[in-house]
Amino acid sequence: MYQPALDAIRQRTPLTPQIALVLGSGLGAFANEVENAVTIPYSDIPGWPVSTAIGHAGQLVVGTVAGTPIAVMSGRVHLYEGYSAQQVVFGTRVLGKLGVKTLILTNAAGGLHPDYGQGSLVLINDHINLMAENPCLGPNDDSLGPRFFDMTDAYSADLRARVLAKAAALNIPLHQGVYLALKGPNFETPAEIRAFARLGADLVGMSTVPEVLAANHMGLRCLAISCVTNLAAGISTEKLSHEEVLETGRRVRDTFVRLLKAIIPEVAA
Ligand code: HPA
Repeated sequence: MYQPALDAIRQRTPLTPQIALVLGSGLGAFANEVENAVTIPYSDIPGWPVSTAIGHAGQLVVGTVAGTPIAVMSGRVHLYEGYSAQQVVFGTRVLGKLGVKTLILTNAAGGLHPDYGQGSLVLINDHINLMAENPCLGPNDDSLGPRFFDMTDAYSADLRARVLAKAAALNIPLHQGVYLALKGPNFETPAEIRAFARLGADLVGMSTVPEVLAANHMGLRCLAISCVTNLAAGISTEKLSHEEVLETGRRVRDTFVRLLKAIIPEVAA
């Protein structure tokens, strides 16, 4: 199932990326940081789903960042677009089979924690899956991983420690928090946000969790960073909009790119 995609990538580049990086809304600019870049449109890779969301390009960029071989997914697909969880994690699984050891995910999220302001960067330290979806449902593919897999260190504590140290050295404030995932596509109601805060959520969003499940199933290490593009519904009196999400993403982009560039060599080994 994944072989035609692997062959298509192999035909374009001999590089074995150590890290896969998924760029969330508005972070596509990071692809410019990749050296010796080979750009492969998703539409050239058999089986690779193409995003319909605004702010999400659709290409795989393979090359190096600070000497580290990397595959950057510029654009991802979401459950709210109507894709199945298996389609959402297709890229994760292909890159895992290609030899990637570490998956770094970025996303835009709503902030629930009172310490977060608009534009805060937050390292996800755990999640609550309320998507009612899982890419590992159905017969287990033993070539990917075991039927029942552990999620106690789903967001590698070792990698998080290294990233926090690097962020501190760069003077980039970085929080940690729990990400609660929903299918979307609507933003939440204020009552939902109050309920989720009681459940222990610090962030809410519509992505990332399927990929983290697929990656942990395969034994990859994960790291995920949210940009708080807006305070969650009802926390401020503002109405939520995708424009606001994109606008905050743009404002924080340079700092986010600087952080990502700095952590890539830290998490490679
Ligand atoms: N809720 C869900 N997903 C989001 C939000 C939000 O408030 N902001 C950005 N992605």
